Amino acid sequence: MAPLNLPRHIAITMDGNGRWAAARAVARAAGHKAGLKPVRMCVEECTRLKIEALTLFAFSSENWGRPADEVGSLMNLFLEALDREVAELHEKGVRLRFIGERRSLSVRLQARIAAAEERTGGNRGLALQVAVSYGGRWDIVQAAQSLARECSSGSMRPEEISEPRFAARLSLAGLPDPDLHIRTGGEHRISNFLLWQLAYAELYFTERLWPDFAVADLNEALSFFASRERRFGQRPAAAGAAR
Ligand code: IPE
Ligand code: IPE
Ligand code: MG
Repeated sequence: MAPLNLPRHIAITMDGNGRWAAARAVARAAGHKAGLKPVRMCVEECTRLKIEALTLFAFSSENWGRPADEVGSLMNLFLEALDREVAELHEKGVRLRFIGERRSLSVRLQARIAAAEERTGGNRGLALQVAVSYGGRWDIVQAAQSLARECSSGSMRPEEISEPRFAARLSLAGLPDPDLHIRTGGEHRISNFLLWQLAYAELYFTERLWPDFAVADLNEALSFFASRERRFGQRPAAAGAAR
């Protein structure tokens, strides 16, 4: 019983793994590992509902500031997850891509990412983006650098920089902007996720900790989305008649 009005693109800030682990008196790494289950569930549901794109915030630019053992366990988890999940994602027709500052990742992880992207690159099902070493500000700066290079080489004039041309240099170029952003873990903030692309997203926050996020929670977020009237700064469609 999927709501009629589905988002084309869902972005999720998967927060609360540490608190989930603390509540069970297990290591934070175990909390991160438990976060794989809802990732699988979301991929499955989005595929079933024929949602075009899903973008998951897995590790932020600022998360590098965490203790080395936590960063290390997360990087290992990304490696393991790539090894274990890519075959199944490929089978489901998922096109997997990573967004974020790649060169700060280990050479090994970069190679696995490149191989997974290459393997699934021709798929036409769900476009799945995993944001690792990603920051919305980083994204905007790298887009600005790319445009500045073109301007200084003479192939573009500064006046030719437009919103579509800027967006074309951002990490999610070619995809519709996320129309629904979900954040688990109870915080009501963006934490440097997709700063440009979330301009008109509907924002859904839930107390549920990410490892506990289940189909019913996703459906609740989808019902919330379906109930919103999106105006994009315009007047309401029907009520607009009243002057
Ligand atoms: C989200 O869970 C995962 C990452 C940020 C890598 P946290 O580790 O932030 O969990 P909490 O917020 O401390 O509970
Ligand atoms: C946001 O969560 C980043 C990810 C979920 C990957 P954080 O736990 O890092 O965000 P803050 O510190 O609560 O803002
Ligand atoms: Mg957190």
